Amino acid sequence: MTTDHSLLVEELTLGYKDRDVIDSLDLAIPPGRITVIVGANACGKSTLLRSMSRLLAPRSGRVLLDGQKVHRLPPKKVARTLGLLPQSPIAPEGITVSDLVGRGRHPHQRVLARWSDADDEAVAAALEATETVELAERPVDELSGGQRQRVWIAMALAQRTDVLLLDEPTTFLDVSHQVEVLDLLTDLNASRGTTIVLVLHDLNLAARYADHLIALAAGRIHASGPPDQVITPETVEAVFGISSRVITDPTSGKPLMLPIGRHHDATRTG
Ligand SMILES: Nc1ncnc2c1ncn2[C@@H]1O[C@H](COP(=O)(O)OP(=O)(O)OP(=O)(O)O)[C@@H](O)[C@H]1O
Ligand SMILES: [Mg+2]
Repeated sequence: MTTDHSLLVEELTLGYKDRDVIDSLDLAIPPGRITVIVGANACGKSTLLRSMSRLLAPRSGRVLLDGQKVHRLPPKKVARTLGLLPQSPIAPEGITVSDLVGRGRHPHQRVLARWSDADDEAVAAALEATETVELAERPVDELSGGQRQRVWIAMALAQRTDVLLLDEPTTFLDVSHQVEVLDLLTDLNASRGTTIVLVLHDLNLAARYADHLIALAAGRIHASGPPDQVITPETVEAVFGISSRVITDPTSGKPLMLPIGRHHDATRTG
């Protein structure tokens, strides 16, 4: 099954005050696939995701969702199709986990029939999927960093959008929860055809889970395509300024990048 919404960025320029961060960018998100954006700190990944989800207006160019300019569409209409989990979301003070996750349902609620069985079901399923059921009545402020991150993911899942953008969803998560969240998103993509766009810093997880990988450098696309074409020592050097070796991950057959710092030897074999 696939939902096939088209999401296109055309000649998009974004910036803050007197500085451009993204410069005339063209980008097509493959519908029904998992796209992962990687790039150095401050290269513009979050800025791009914010603009793709309508939160940041373009200086020039456009973001097209199913052919329509997202910045011209009503926010609730966009939010029924496209959800964003920002990098550092802020919860209202004192809110409980179940109330926060319930806010993911706002785009689906009408003025009169405020809360439906479908809302209940979506919230319960999101809590279950993120293993946060037992946290439901706790205030979000009192959770650990990793628990809180899973609650935000639950909120994004409860929105049940066909397109889901997640900015560093694995931050704060231990290794098992990182893999669990990425497996969950892969399941969602497989079962519902959800188009998923992720920003990740772990290149090896990015290579494992991405159908399509985009390496962003200084607001431009340096390389894009399947992981084995993007994760190369040349791209890693150009995008992150570090030398590396790339071998084949024995568990996935995908590229595995080993960074080489100043204290390690690039030529060592055993
Ligand atoms: N609200 C803002 N006002 C002014 N400048 C901003 C704002 N948000 C981001 N920037 C600047 O825009 C540039 C790109 O920031 P952005 O958050 O998009 O980077 P990023 O690629 O997501 O980095 P990271 O990997 O650290 O999350 C940075 O130089 C940042 O300082
Ligand atoms: Mg960011």
